[in-house]
Amino acid sequence: MSEKSSYKDVFIFDHPLIQHKLAIMRDKDTSTKEFRELVSEVSMLMAYEVTRDLPLRPVDVETPIGIAHCHMIEGKKLALIPILRAGLGMVEGMINLVPMAKVGHIGLYRDPETLEPIEYYCKLPDDIQNRDVILLDPMLATGGSAAASVGFLKDRNIEHIKFVCLIAAPEGIERLHSEHPDVPIFCAGLDERLNEHAYTVPGLGDAGDRLFGTK
Ligand code: PRP
Repeated sequence: MSEKSSYKDVFIFDHPLIQHKLAIMRDKDTSTKEFRELVSEVSMLMAYEVTRDLPLRPVDVETPIGIAHCHMIEGKKLALIPILRAGLGMVEGMINLVPMAKVGHIGLYRDPETLEPIEYYCKLPDDIQNRDVILLDPMLATGGSAAASVGFLKDRNIEHIKFVCLIAAPEGIERLHSEHPDVPIFCAGLDERLNEHAYTVPGLGDAGDRLFGTK
């Protein structure tokens, strides 16, 4: 379902459903309601692949007819951590597939002048050190928000982190991987570059504004 890109540990989801939905999300005329639904749907589809390496354990299940030798997910604990605010749009779709996951939140905004991320909120599950983290943000632009968020998590001794976004720019991939080479990146689309305002081109605009209708 995903293809490895020319970048090491960057996985681009080439599934037709994801590519189709991403195209509609990019359209400037897509409504807030539809955009929100699409982010949720694509996140659910991405969860399918992002959780591919969850370990299984054998279980015997008694069916109405006999015993089935099955597999279930071994008690692997997950945490979904959206980067506020746009990452919130990806939570519902993902948690539908992994309802046992807990949700933490990291609040960052990008300073419009320095473009550097400023932390304004952080609340994580108590047992976060025992969980594998899926960090969520629709956009990887300069990579500042993602790299800072991973840094906050590592400061709390969290080791296993995956970063999942809708669109990644080369600049963001390079920054996140140079600061945190151990964090794989999963995305639906790889953009060309950033513009002078650090938006991805062609991108989809400001994901937070499009999700919440604030512009
Ligand atoms: C956007 C986006 C990412 C960040 C990406 O958030 O949702 O969090 O910018 O940019 P970066 O890779 O250069 O750090 P924004 O600061 O607009 O905040 P919002 O989610 O509250 O809209």
